[in-house]
Amino acid sequence: MEKICIGALISGGGTNLQAIIDACENGTIDGKMVFVGSDQPGVKGLERAKTHNIPSFVVEYGPIIQSFRRDPAEVALPDDFDLDEIMAKQHLFPASASEERVHAFLCTRAVAEHRLLSEMDAFGHIDLLVLAGFMRNLTPYFINRFNRDPANPRIMNIHPAILPSFPGVDGYGDTFRYGCKVGGCTVHFIDYGEDSGPIVGQRTFPILETDTLDDVKRKGLEQEWQLYPECIQHFAHGRLKTMKMTHHLDNGQIFQRTIVAIAQPA
Ligand code: GAR
Repeated sequence: MEKICIGALISGGGTNLQAIIDACENGTIDGKMVFVGSDQPGVKGLERAKTHNIPSFVVEYGPIIQSFRRDPAEVALPDDFDLDEIMAKQHLFPASASEERVHAFLCTRAVAEHRLLSEMDAFGHIDLLVLAGFMRNLTPYFINRFNRDPANPRIMNIHPAILPSFPGVDGYGDTFRYGCKVGGCTVHFIDYGEDSGPIVGQRTFPILETDTLDDVKRKGLEQEWQLYPECIQHFAHGRLKTMKMTHHLDNGQIFQRTIVAIAQPA
């Protein structure tokens, strides 16, 4: 079977990245890790890429955001950036959010995302982009340029909670503090919202009364390292299909959601 080309974006330690690289190398995933991009310089995940001779690049978001705060005119927006179009598509902010804040967010992210896309271009065709501890929300600017066919999404993320519970930056912390008796992790495709895209796979683990937050994170990561490669292998084998589902509820409301159907291996 032909191997798929995988790119990864990270922000930190990269233990999920390591699990994916190992799975590619030992044949558990029919894929090849082609590049690793980071929004943070000097992180352990970049060292992991180097150890495996995988090219890497860094696009720092921080300096772009700081320049914009000093003076928006300091920041050159990409020629193909249409703020109104991205504003209308994004679901990252509620309608009540201040327009100024949303503008600043979308403009600075488009600049960073344009750089990410230019770096990625150098590696030719990528079948799947995996977010492996990438702590930045991607906006429709990036998503539409990478994901040209919305029916076949190809940006995956792993999130440290059983979505749709506890989206955001601290899934295990939120799960632990809430007093949940089970925790879990979710692999999903990216859409225009925060951790809201179609779910590919989930795993759970028990949380005992004696568990600390560190125990929850350790148990969770152990599940993540198994779940992510498994989901990527489904993608590599063309087993993932998105389907638009419509449900008519007893109260007359209509609930619509795109879900992922997983074909069983032959
Ligand atoms: C993982 O727990 C992952 O689920 C989480 O960050 C950690 C990265 O660990 N991702 C997010 O919270 C994304 N919003 P790693 O760098 O060791 O793979």
